[in-house]
Amino acid sequence: MLKQFGVGVAIAGSGSATPTAKLTNEQLSQVVETSDEWIQSRTGMRERRVATVEESLCSLSVQASQKAIEAAQIPKEAIDLVILATSTPDDLFGSAAKIAHQVGATHAVAFDLTAACSGFVFGMVTAAQYIRTGVYQNVLLIGADVLSRWVDWSDRSTCVLFGDGAGAVVLRADETRDRLLGFELCSDGTQNHTLTLAFQGETKPLVDEVNAKLGNYQPITMNGREVYRFAVAKVPEVISKALFRANLTASDIDWLLLHQANQRIMDAVAQRLKLPSEKVISNIAKYGNTSAASIPLALDEAVRDGKVKVGDRIAASGFGAGLTWGAVIFEWGINNG
Ligand code: ACO
Repeated sequence: MLKQFGVGVAIAGSGSATPTAKLTNEQLSQVVETSDEWIQSRTGMRERRVATVEESLCSLSVQASQKAIEAAQIPKEAIDLVILATSTPDDLFGSAAKIAHQVGATHAVAFDLTAACSGFVFGMVTAAQYIRTGVYQNVLLIGADVLSRWVDWSDRSTCVLFGDGAGAVVLRADETRDRLLGFELCSDGTQNHTLTLAFQGETKPLVDEVNAKLGNYQPITMNGREVYRFAVAKVPEVISKALFRANLTASDIDWLLLHQANQRIMDAVAQRLKLPSEKVISNIAKYGNTSAASIPLALDEAVRDGKVKVGDRIAASGFGAGLTWGAVIFEWGINNG
């Protein structure tokens, strides 16, 4: 149904890319004191991918983007905007413009968006605003992270959880129908300390009374139990709010597509929403938590496997550092009249 803005959003094509190097739970037990049994039973993860020295956030994002553009069947020059959702750009000034250049999106403006594991959901809503206002017609949205570069590989409570990857979708203006049916975004800075990748520095005196602070970003710290509790409480709530805005209920949903942080979180959320496990999209066993990449990566695999079909209704939810969390309800694909 058309809303007052007159232009709707279609999610037209997807792509993804992961590093070639696999790191299994068994191999991880040679790095830290852990076991396949502990990791699988607590998280559902069996292996993850780790970017090699030749790979980068940009190289994975470019591969994922090329596949998404091909699937969306639009010329790359037709892309108006590139949004890169990431917390781990190759360059802190941003990597989106470089990726846009490397995929040949020569007419696009590009910027990075940081909302940790919620980045892809926040990016989808951001992209939709540009489309709904009629400013842009074609937006390439990438979710990508290489957290292997930012974990403490001696901290078993975090290093076993994360993996690297990239996923992308093309969002298009659609004058006939709006397929972004509802959304809800949230953040809570009071809980910022529960999950950090923070800058730490030392004082460098410059001149009298003027000191700079020089340092670096420190590896991820996480209060796992707190984040777990937060996710299980807030994700069903935010999905329910997004469903309400879409004038739908959970039973109208074909697929539940959650940030792949922990299989137990996905199971608990599905249970709260009374959705059967067959409707839960999960690839956490193969990739672990790939942060902003996890939703588009799982979506792309489900589309290419023929599970998700044009017109299917998807409830997607991201949650993580910030803290941030959000949900989008959308219909997949563009050719369903
Ligand atoms: N191998 C073996 N033992 C371990 C490991 C490990 N890799 N890691 C921790 N342990 C031990 C702990 O030391 C602890 O031992 P103790 O009881 O002797 O102190 C024990 O296992 C239990 O630890 P818990 O933290 O209670 O384990 P829990 O069942 O809570 O699982 C986990 C931990 C998997 C991290 C869970 O809390 C979780 O998934 N939290 C949510 C994480 C998340 O969703 N993050 C998403 C956001 S990510 C982002 O935004 C970037």
